[in-house]
Amino acid sequence: MKNLEVVVSPALLPFYHVKNKTVVVIDILRATSSMCVAFKIGVEKILTLASAEECKLFKEFDFIIAAEKDAIKVAGFDLGNSPFEFENPLLEGKNIALATTNGTKAIKYANENGASNIVIGSFLNIDVLCNWLIEQNNDVILLCAGWKNKFNLEDTLFAGAVVNIIESNFHVDCDSALFAKLLYVSNIDDLENLVRASSHAKRFKLQSYQTDDVKYCLQMNTAPVLPILEGNYFKKLI
Ligand code: MLT
Repeated sequence: MKNLEVVVSPALLPFYHVKNKTVVVIDILRATSSMCVAFKIGVEKILTLASAEECKLFKEFDFIIAAEKDAIKVAGFDLGNSPFEFENPLLEGKNIALATTNGTKAIKYANENGASNIVIGSFLNIDVLCNWLIEQNNDVILLCAGWKNKFNLEDTLFAGAVVNIIESNFHVDCDSALFAKLLYVSNIDDLENLVRASSHAKRFKLQSYQTDDVKYCLQMNTAPVLPILEGNYFKKLI
């Protein structure tokens, strides 16, 4: 039976055997949620980059450039990283270059550590993701993007939701997977209140966000797509 593990921060990834495993990158607020929305509305492909400076270079290649730093849209970019910005039919068929504080860096780490498949997970695509992970029958690492290598609540909460759904199909001998599941099942009736207490939700409040990105990113299965890394780009697999 294949293994299932949860890594609560990219800083811990070097302590896991990643090579040839399927890595699910998780950044609920908001990179992986926004990527699922982008593919739901028909974006062609997404190039994820570790820095806004790299991202800006792709403007001249007819990419839509999107970047945030510490949850604030980077000046001069077409988009920030709110899922509300990606829910725009004008993006259909477009290519996006995306750089975020944690999520796109976690993707880079997973790639550098030899993952065989890198896919995107969020509450918005949770059932499509879980069904595919079960069918794949490969070792899985649920990689939480966290916040600047620190633990964050919402990513591990989502990892726990995935563990809760798929664990009967995997060998789970990982305390962080057990913890993540316990965090999820003990808060299943009110995820929103829990996540609103998170440090990142507080950042949104401090920046007097006009959109309720927390509520949006906690919707279940509203973007039933599966983004997968193919070469340098994320494309829609399902
Ligand atoms: C991240 O990379 O941690 C998030 O995308 C930050 C955000 O969009 O607020």
